[in-house]
Amino acid sequence: MESLDNYLFKYKGFVFAKGETTEEYIDSLQHFEIRDSDVFLVTYPKSGTIWTQNIINLICEDTTDKIYTNNLEKMPWLEYREGRPDYSLRPSPRFFASHLTPTLMPLGLKDKRGKIIYVIRNPKDNVVSYFHFSHVWAKIETPKSFEDFLQLYLAGNVGCASWFDHIREWYTKREQYNILFLTYEDMVMDLRTAVKKICMFLGKDLDDTAIARIVEKATFKNMKQDPKANYEFIPQDLLLQPQFMRKGTVGDWKNTFTVAQNEMFDQIFKERMGNLPLNFIWDLDTKTKQN
Ligand code: PPS
Repeated sequence: MESLDNYLFKYKGFVFAKGETTEEYIDSLQHFEIRDSDVFLVTYPKSGTIWTQNIINLICEDTTDKIYTNNLEKMPWLEYREGRPDYSLRPSPRFFASHLTPTLMPLGLKDKRGKIIYVIRNPKDNVVSYFHFSHVWAKIETPKSFEDFLQLYLAGNVGCASWFDHIREWYTKREQYNILFLTYEDMVMDLRTAVKKICMFLGKDLDDTAIARIVEKATFKNMKQDPKANYEFIPQDLLLQPQFMRKGTVGDWKNTFTVAQNEMFDQIFKERMGNLPLNFIWDLDTKTKQN
């Protein structure tokens, strides 16, 4: 274990929150027994996790919703058990959120048992969202400036390590898994289509009225007011301000990046991601796409 600062430690190339998990627990996940009905939502942080979590939970609403007080309890973090009873005791279907990379995920997923939904967000909006989050999440060192945070992010010295490595590893290993890729930007542009894709992947045949109800509940405005979904239930000693739902837009990076930072970022992006056939939407006005 390598300590990065007061809050983070590096293990097997990944960066975890200190005090929230252990190396032994992370290692034990390799042999975590997968059920066919398991659903995993996997993201790099600040990519739309709690949004997609809400959509999946709404699609898979059932009687167990009565026993889970909020979305986090229905779909807890795989890597941060936080005092919950053994996950193997949970009734099926089980739902998990995770920020882990393929190397650290349960090996059983490679047998294409269980389903994975992976959400990607363009890294400029991602780093800006992460920067703002680092001011409100008590267990992250508050960065001195955006420039400082950007350097940490580019070096992979933030929680969950490098955005570039995360996307690359999941994308290049996708054939090994039963996985659906979504992008945050597509969800912003056409939430209904995203909800329908998730329904199809999960084998849920919902009619138009049910889909419309889910779309309505998952809009930024409505989710922000939904106490089960908006994460304002997180204790104040962890979340200094309720900011899991901050702006919810595409292109907000333009309000933070300088021209020089943008040019530098574009260069690094090209070097590290240029050979992946992924299209990113950086801005809704122009819908600028870049490989
Ligand atoms: S975390 O901490 O990793 O779980 O954060 P995560 O949920 O992945 O990402 C937080 C960003 O998602 C935005 N968000 C939404 N956008 C659009 N519509 C809805 N309904 C929605 N819900 C959450 C949230 O506002 C964060 O993005 P920013 O850019 O900071 O607003």
